Parts: sequence; C-alpha cells; structure tokens
Amino acid sequence: MSATAPAQKVIVLDFGAQYGQLIARRVRDLHVYSEIMPCDATAEEVAAAQPSAIILSGGPASVYAEDAPRIDPGVLELGIPVLGFCYGHQIIAVTLGGEVGHTDKGEYGPAPLTHHENSRLFEGTPASQTVWMSHRDAVTCIPPKFAITARTDICGVAAMECEARKIYSTQFHPEVRHTPYGNQMLSNFLFNICGLQPNWTMDSIIEDSVAAIRAQVGSSRVILGLSGGVDSSVVAALCAKAIGKQLTCVFVNHGLLRKNEPEEVEEIFTKLFDVDFVHVHAEERYAKLLAGVTDPEQKRRIIGTQFWNEFFAVAQDLAEDGRPVQFMAQGTIYPDIIESGARKTGGKASTIKSHHNLIPFPEGVHFDLIEPLDHFFKDEVRALGSALGLPEYLVHRQPFPGPGLAIRIIGDVTPEKLDILKNADAIVREELDAYNDRLFQETGERNSEHSCWQYFAVLPDIKSVGVMGDERTYQRPIILRAVESTDAMTADWAKLPYDVLGRISSRIVAEVPGANRVCYDITPKPPATIEWE
Ligand code: XMP
Repeated sequence: MSATAPAQKVIVLDFGAQYGQLIARRVRDLHVYSEIMPCDATAEEVAAAQPSAIILSGGPASVYAEDAPRIDPGVLELGIPVLGFCYGHQIIAVTLGGEVGHTDKGEYGPAPLTHHENSRLFEGTPASQTVWMSHRDAVTCIPPKFAITARTDICGVAAMECEARKIYSTQFHPEVRHTPYGNQMLSNFLFNICGLQPNWTMDSIIEDSVAAIRAQVGSSRVILGLSGGVDSSVVAALCAKAIGKQLTCVFVNHGLLRKNEPEEVEEIFTKLFDVDFVHVHAEERYAKLLAGVTDPEQKRRIIGTQFWNEFFAVAQDLAEDGRPVQFMAQGTIYPDIIESGARKTGGKASTIKSHHNLIPFPEGVHFDLIEPLDHFFKDEVRALGSALGLPEYLVHRQPFPGPGLAIRIIGDVTPEKLDILKNADAIVREELDAYNDRLFQETGERNSEHSCWQYFAVLPDIKSVGVMGDERTYQRPIILRAVESTDAMTADWAKLPYDVLGRISSRIVAEVPGANRVCYDITPKPPATIEWE
C-alpha cells in the first residue's frame, strides 16, 4: 500500500536526482503534496498520476548532449500548468520550438536579476533581486507565443512564460535558499497561477493515512516488527490510530539495545497506544547463538535470521490462536523508494527494504505489505511522529543499527562486555544530549554547525594497564565516536570542547566497572565509516 494521494498533487519530473528531491520538499513545505517521477515518464503516465501542476527540475546534462534526458512533448500538451527550472527551462525551450546555445561565459552563483512587472511568477518580489544561477548553456531563442520575463547581465532569458498555456520557466534555481524570493515565486505558481490550496497539513496527512489503512486492512490483522527506531515507531503509532487492537507490535528484544531502551519502547506502546504488544524476550537465545562469534558479517546474519524466526513464531502463535495475520506493516520511507528506482520499474516488490529481501519468508508464510510512510521524507516522518503523540526523545532518536550493540563490540559478544558498553554508552548519550541541547539554546537550530549528529561508545577487543587508587588495573578502553553529518553518507568527527570530552572520560572511568581508558576517534568518513565493527 502506498500513502494516500491527496486531491491536489504536484509532480516533479526529475532530470537529476538531488534537484528533484529538493523541489518536492519545497512544495511540501508550502503544504502542497508533491511526488517525484523520472523525467522519461510518458504523457500517459503523468496524466494517470492526475497532477494539478508539473515542475521540471534542473539537471547536470547539456540539452544537446547525445544521451541528454528528454521530455515526452505530450507532457507539455496536457493542459496542466508547468514550471521549469534550469535544465527544465531549457528543455521547455527546445521542445516547444525555441533554441538553446552554448554561451561564452557560464554563470555560477548569485546573479543580479531584473524582471518585468507584469509576470505573475514574480508578483510581490522586487524588480531587481539576486537569484542563484548554475549554467553554461542558455536559451537563445524563446518558443513562439512565449515572452521573456527576466534577464541578468549574462543571461538574456533568465525567465520566460506563455501565460495563456500556463507554462513558466526560469534559468535560475528558485528552490535553493540562495534565491531569496524563490519561495515566493513557487508560492505564486502554486497558489496564484494554479489556484491550489495549502491544505496538506499534518492533520490532513494523518486523517488521510488513517482512512487509507482502514480501507486496505478492513477487519484483518496486521503485524509489525518494532525496533524502537523512528520509522517503525511512527508506523506503529499511525496503525494504532487506524486499527487499534487489530495491530500486533512485535518487539524482539535481542538484548543488544542501548541501556533502558527496551523498557522505554514497552512503556510507550503499552501506555500511550492501545495495541496488542508482544515483548519477545529473546536475550538468552541470542546470547547462545552469538557466543564465540567474532566475524561481524556472521553476527549480522545470525541476528537478522533470528529476528525473523522470532517474528514468524509470533505470527504462527497468532494464527493458532484464531487470529491469522494478513498484513505486515513496515517503515519504508520515500528516499528508500526513490533510491531503489522503484517508480521507474513500477515494481512494488523492489521497494521491500533490502534486509527483508535477504531473509525469504518461510514455506507457507505470506504477508501483504503496508507501507504508510512510503511517500514521506525523514523529517516529515519525525513531524508525523510528534503529531501522533510519540515522545520527542523517540522522534529525534539518532540512527541505530539493526544488529545493535553487537556490531559496536569488536570480537565476541559476552554479557560482561555488553554491560560495559551499555553503561559507557549511556554516559556518552547523556553528556552529548546535554551538549546538543546547549547548542540548540544558543543557536535555535537542532542540527546546527558542530552539533553532534550521531554519538556512541564502542568497545574494542583489547585491554590495557591503568592505575586506579593504589591498584594497577587491566581493563578495557572505550572508544568515543561522535560525528557531524546530515545523511551518514559522509561525516566528520565532532569538534567537541575539551571540557565535554574531559567530563565524558572521567565519568566513564569512574562510573563504569571494567573500563579504565577513553579514546576519541578523530577520523572522518571517508576514509573511515561511522560505525566500528
Ligand atoms: P557507516 O558505519 O556505514 O554507517 O558509516 C552509516 C549509517 O548507517 C547506520 N548503520 C546501520 N543502520 N542497520 C541500520 O539500520 C545496520 O546494520 C547499520 N549499519 C550502520 C550507522 O549507524 C550510520 O548512521
């Protein structure tokens, strides 16, 4: 199942991945639902999506390059308002009979622009303003019945339009923050030109999603693997609202979660939500399976496979109890879909998160999937979680690997090592949560420069000598890992103040039995990774 499609929808045809996502987010920020489609979608496919407006994104290609992405000309004949940026501007020009040429000088960065007063796209913005440019090619001849509406010193056709057909385009990028009036232009297009309403709000999203889940599930039973992470928790909260006791949340406690986490998850889903909650105490089974295993890949395999064994066992119990499960809910989010290229292939199966694909369902087991978050970006999922009443600490939880602390313990996992790591990690989180809160109070931003994005303790498989009081110790070091990042693709080590580092070190050594030393990992990603394993 996909998220509900609201009555008003803007389709962004994406000519270069990151551009399309940014535009879709800007549209959604203005409370209009927006979806991305690949740029080679046919006019029929676009029409079938029933958009109220179409936006053509920028892209890295040159329109005259051999393999340059094209647009189905029929898309521009659908009678649906169109707005194009950068590559989208040029593709409109060449498709409708204009011309694009190479200019002597490229134009990159801020550029002073002048627009004509009578263009509705620029309404409410100054006649002279700064816009963000990034191009070498430029429109040299506009299509018939188009008018030039803005120019810069270098770019003679910085914007053009055919008001009668409601086709507008700009060489610059209104979607980036460096175009100060970009948002105003987007809002002019959506609300004044297309006549849309800004009614895609959290309340309406919840209402629509709840209705869609109810319609799909009917009186059947849904099962959900709850990890305590943001995505599965938000799916659980949404399904709880939609179908209450028809939902069984299965929380497989493998004993590899952070300190107090299992108790927190149980408390939230038994006290805040009226669902059937099964806490599977699998700690001992996992401990046995992992005993003596040192290879990280083998640890991951054991943990993943056992998760499914535990999960299916609950499903079977429910079936034997006369409550067979038809649906499995999971927290696939929009970037998973975009990255898997599922839209292009049209294949729903390819959207199942890869770790699920690795473990085939056992003989005779089949679930239909419910993926209520499959059209939401991560920050929208968090906002949805807050609106559904999930506590802030859960909604803003940092990423945590599925195999949990097992991959932060180098070498074999033992109860003694788990204890050391849980206790040290709790101190790291407490101190750096407080550090982030202080930065938030100073800057007003949650993820400001130098705030930590992810932070945790790692336990390497070595011991070293120390001295505590009058006694020599031979104990374990704790590695502190704290990084600044936005998406985990790249990361830098956090430039933590010495007093914060000092407090973490002295607290760990004083409060965690078995640890006598703290080291700070100062390696960026790449060349390192964020996790150790
Ligand atoms: P690396 O270590 O590759 O991690 O730099 C990038 C991000 O992914 C998280 N991570 C995982 N998340 N299951 C997950 O759900 C996993 O197995 C896993 N391994 C790494 C990691 O915490 C970091 O944010």
